[in-house]
Amino acid sequence: TDVQGHIKFKDVSFGYNNNGLVVLENFNLEIDPGQIVAIVGPTGAGKTSMISMLLRFYDPWQGEVSLDGVNLKDLTLESLRSNITLVLQDSFIFPMSLADNIAFANPNASREEIIKAAKAAQAHDFISRLPEGYDTIASEGGVSLSGGEKQRISLARAFLRNTSILILDEPTSALDAQTEARIFQSLSSYSKGRTIFIISHRLSTIRHADLIVTIKDGMIAEKGTHEVLVNEGKVYAELYKY
Ligand code: GTP
Ligand code: MG
Repeated sequence: TDVQGHIKFKDVSFGYNNNGLVVLENFNLEIDPGQIVAIVGPTGAGKTSMISMLLRFYDPWQGEVSLDGVNLKDLTLESLRSNITLVLQDSFIFPMSLADNIAFANPNASREEIIKAAKAAQAHDFISRLPEGYDTIASEGGVSLSGGEKQRISLARAFLRNTSILILDEPTSALDAQTEARIFQSLSSYSKGRTIFIISHRLSTIRHADLIVTIKDGMIAEKGTHEVLVNEGKVYAELYKY
């Protein structure tokens, strides 16, 4: 596709029901194509809500969200969603081989491409150790995977899909810090040129993001690189202490 991945939230306010609480207020954020953006903030701050609007699971009450200068409402859902890959905390594994699980959205992928995606997701080593390797059938009568293994399979699936925009909403919560850090390291080379959103509570692993955005009380509290935000000594610096 010819999507660049330039994303803009302009004066967005949003809540879940019209009489209810405002979740995001006066939310303004512009992301250049190809950036790795980390979204940080306390639980309930509105991180997942913000991401949900990108996929149009919900629309803003006011303001607009645009992709490459086009209001998302003026795109078809199909074209919008075919350019965005979303990985959530709860990964889904289909009762089929691990190779087919990874290639689920790309049935024509070669074994080589599948392995490359699995390596980027830190899944290749554990898959290779299984007697049937990539041909191992997952669940329902087959091998049962740990939570962290499932997360890495679903990350490999997302990496292989190779869309202009990749959103990772705490997809590595079951992984140890070192594995998570390795995945994020390979992400910058594997998904070069893609706009990537990473939501993670583990700040040590997102410190190399091009841009870190902290959300507090429904608004952007601050944004910048790790070094800048630590020096500012405000929300991010406070979160980083713990
Ligand atoms: P964590 O994932 O816990 O780190 O939080 P988050 O920053 O992703 O917050 P999220 O966007 O999920 O929630 C923001 C606010 O919206 C919270 O007050 C939630 O209770 C509320 N909220 C989230 N999802 C829904 C929903 O589906 N319906 C309603 N009514 N409220 C919701
Ligand atoms: Mg969330």
